[in-house]
Amino acid sequence: NNVFAEMIGQKHGLQRKELFDFKDEAVKAHQNILAAAEAGEMGFMELPHNQQEIVAELKQTAEELKDKFDNFVVLGIGGSALGNIAVQTAINDPYYNLFAEARDGYPRLFVSDNVDPEGVKALLAKLDPKKTLFNVISKSGSTAETMSQFLLARKFIAEAVGEDRVGEHFIATTSKDSGYLIEIAEREGMKKFFIPDNVGGRFSVLTPVGLLSAAMTGVDIEQLLAGAAYMDKICRENDFWQNPALVNALIQYLAYKKGKVMSVMMPYSDRLSDLADWYRQLWAESLGKEVDRQGNKVNLGPTPIKALGATDQHSQAQLYMEGPFDKIITFLEVENFAEELEIPKAYADLDGLGYLGDHNFAELINTEKWATELALNKRQRMNQTVKVPKVNEFTLGQLFYFFEFQTAVAGELFNINAFNQPGVELGKNYTYGIFGRSGYQAKKDEFENSAQK
Ligand code: PA5
Repeated sequence: NNVFAEMIGQKHGLQRKELFDFKDEAVKAHQNILAAAEAGEMGFMELPHNQQEIVAELKQTAEELKDKFDNFVVLGIGGSALGNIAVQTAINDPYYNLFAEARDGYPRLFVSDNVDPEGVKALLAKLDPKKTLFNVISKSGSTAETMSQFLLARKFIAEAVGEDRVGEHFIATTSKDSGYLIEIAEREGMKKFFIPDNVGGRFSVLTPVGLLSAAMTGVDIEQLLAGAAYMDKICRENDFWQNPALVNALIQYLAYKKGKVMSVMMPYSDRLSDLADWYRQLWAESLGKEVDRQGNKVNLGPTPIKALGATDQHSQAQLYMEGPFDKIITFLEVENFAEELEIPKAYADLDGLGYLGDHNFAELINTEKWATELALNKRQRMNQTVKVPKVNEFTLGQLFYFFEFQTAVAGELFNINAFNQPGVELGKNYTYGIFGRSGYQAKKDEFENSAQK
């Protein structure tokens, strides 16, 4: 961990003593989380253990449907999309959608989260409706981006297969007893999967939200959950020094207090690049809050930033090295890449090129990371590394769970509610109002009377 003063310099590093001084706060935070889990309030902690039946149903569904459809399209946004993308990128072939041999008989996967008309239209224009299955994912069952895409997809399917067969082309993933999606699913006879009430959107990747698209693309969802269960055990450890989620949450918290208000996640792995996108939402939406638990205005929260190594060494790294001292960087380092790819030896007579040929690409990408780390240390920039032995379902499940748990601990340390998102809801409500949804007239009036209008 290159976060300590003796490694990167007194002024910008943490003193080990600070960790000792604050560790009891982290332990208290941990106790609160375990107590909340006991009370059934930490749904994400139950997921590695309570889904045997659901997993069996998901696997059976995937088995039944994978040959019937060429395309599986997720309609969802935020916590109902980012985990799906992260799993797909981490586990499946990078060119999965492009080549049939990369898919091993499974359907293509598209995650349509935005409502840019050009993107939405371009996708539908390429799909054969008869061979397309949509998974509409919305916990609230009313998010405008998702439901508007559903309305369009429904029309697209109905025109091709007829009104009475619409339900066969949709699976709804939603809350069991609230919102409109569940009602629609019942009316149309769609297959349904449920998101537990005590699991928030951004904590839901290991529910059917993320697991169905994973199963539909051949990902081993049991191993994902096994990885999460393994990490759950580690995260329940009471000894601060033996619990990496506690240590890391405290480091992030202390770094923030020392003015490192930007938290960069920088995987040196293409496979983990979308995990950083998923984490960006988790960290931002959970910790960016106006009020603390007592209702005092605090307006706090670290700003998460995604970077990709080595690519962003040639884009962001200059700023990280020499810009303001306001960042803590978390590297994700893969110890064993699945491919051993040699750099061919050639041009031995050209000093500036010949040296590459004694090495392979895995060595190169990790050397790039070590070099960046060293340069950051030289410039007294806080950085730390999470080592991933190799990227597979088991380690990915661990990473999801680890960062979710760390976020819950950080919420306790910051004394905010990490599980709500009033700012996001406010934006959603203005959209409903402006678009004329009943019950939201006051929001529409606010818009009509605003300077913005
Ligand atoms: O984490 C969250 O709660 C949000 O990002 C939601 O996932 C997002 O707004 C989508 O909400 P819903 O699943 O209700 O459509």
